[in-house]
Amino acid sequence: MDRQAEVIHALNNLQAHWSTLTKTSIRALLEADPERSDRFTIQFDDLLFDFSRQKMTDETIRLLSHLADVAELPQAVERLFSGEPVNSTEGRPALHMALRARTGHWPAPDGGCARERAQAVRERMRSFAERLRANMLLGATGSAINHVVSLGVGGSDLGPHMASQVFQPFANGPNVHYISNVDGIELQETLEKLHPRNTLVHIASKSFTTLETMENATTAKAWLEATLGQTGAKKHMSAATTNVQAARDFGINEDYIFEFWNWVGGRYSLWSSVGLSLPIMIGWQRFEEFLDGAAEIDQHFRSAPITENIPMMLAMIGIWNRNILGHASLSLNPYDHRLRRFPAYLQQLEMESNGKRTNRAGGLAMMATSPILFGEPGTNCQHSYLQLLHQGFEISPADFFLAAQTIGGTERQHHLLAANCFAQLEALALGLTEEEAREMLAKDGKDPARIDQIAPHMACPGDRPASLFLYRRLDPRTLGRLLAIYEHKVYAQGVIWDVESFDQWGVELGKRRAKILAPMVSGEAETEEAHPCSHRSLKHYRSLQFEVEAGAPNQKLG
Ligand code: F6P
Repeated sequence: MDRQAEVIHALNNLQAHWSTLTKTSIRALLEADPERSDRFTIQFDDLLFDFSRQKMTDETIRLLSHLADVAELPQAVERLFSGEPVNSTEGRPALHMALRARTGHWPAPDGGCARERAQAVRERMRSFAERLRANMLLGATGSAINHVVSLGVGGSDLGPHMASQVFQPFANGPNVHYISNVDGIELQETLEKLHPRNTLVHIASKSFTTLETMENATTAKAWLEATLGQTGAKKHMSAATTNVQAARDFGINEDYIFEFWNWVGGRYSLWSSVGLSLPIMIGWQRFEEFLDGAAEIDQHFRSAPITENIPMMLAMIGIWNRNILGHASLSLNPYDHRLRRFPAYLQQLEMESNGKRTNRAGGLAMMATSPILFGEPGTNCQHSYLQLLHQGFEISPADFFLAAQTIGGTERQHHLLAANCFAQLEALALGLTEEEAREMLAKDGKDPARIDQIAPHMACPGDRPASLFLYRRLDPRTLGRLLAIYEHKVYAQGVIWDVESFDQWGVELGKRRAKILAPMVSGEAETEEAHPCSHRSLKHYRSLQFEVEAGAPNQKLG
């Protein structure tokens, strides 16, 4: 049998196995096997991955790990780590692990060692961050820099922005701000509160051509130059990019350009100079702990057998839920305010990587690929979409995240947060039968008519699969571990789905069309030049815009 035939065979076996489980429930599985929650967990140091509330058995795990084997996942992991061009449409390796490795030879595509190259830039980042924090790198007027505005979008923003929120309790350097949207309001609202003399604008763009970032960079540069002049502004701009020449042409000082390379995917670039704002904010030692946490997971992913391998099991559970049970979404529920941008970060990581329908050979993928991800921090999520997860028709598997120890806040509040997290996991798995609802209502002294009326509404079917990541505390090392787990999960799923995880041609289409439409939107070209599907809305936009151009006071209300 060839690889594809073996994969189909393994999927069919999983499908047949599923038909034996449809009549059971997660509740029944948990109650029949008191040891289940010991077996259906993997522990890495203090980090526990608990998947005991997934609708699966030991046989499921055996069949999933067989699928991973016949899909040649272990070999694909070796290809990733040995620098093969796993990004086939762009002909590049994906060596983001070299950005956080301390040892080893990581062959770069153009010869040499990717890790050594990364380390050389990291040394420059370290010196820059430390001098800035020690007020040894001053602005043009001799003032200390105490604000960093990081401009970037997508992978050049989501990671550092999310991590900066997680790192808030560790912050002891300049304040950091993140701007991503081309909607000028975002930049305006931030710059309004700052002064050029003590602000560094860090332009993070792999390509240094992205519309949003370059627009924001041009506006921010003009803001700096208006106060500091052209030469002065140069002491207030840095760049992280693979396109060093474009950064130079933009006017960035050579010493303030921090290179990275095409073998780092945009959504994997937070570990590179794209994340320069982070060591500026928390100091180098903490930043290295963050990198080390990720590097530990790299080792684990490369060496642990499938059933003891957290990223692999996370990936295979996702395959089970998506392709066998047919669940089309995944909810992300961090019970941690500091992880509030984590769902947004994972949305890009997973959906931009594996939201594909074309297989590696250019044909149609043979199974459904990335689910739709959404999420909110707990307990806020309980007051929005969790209702649907408990009682809606759609089943959305859920990932939960919880630290046992809080950094900040009161112990009492943290215990309440944790109790709510555990409660949701129980409620999703076990549900509430109508019988149990009736008993509860009777105990509360409700009269029989009232019980008949509301018990059917209270019943929750349960049987909703969920996993939990539980760790000591949310510090830089733990965040590094969590991010690397999901990065590798995405790669592993891409291998099973046989899609190209490191490109994003769909996103490119939107970018291209925006370029064509821009002159019609601004009135430099006729709206009729657009595709007819846009004529009506473009005309209406232009007619309303005309009011502004004719001098209507729309700039500020009130
Ligand atoms: O969102 C599409 C994308 O190409 C991402 O992959 C990337 O992270 C982002 O745009 C920003 O690109 P750049 O870093 O080149 O500005």
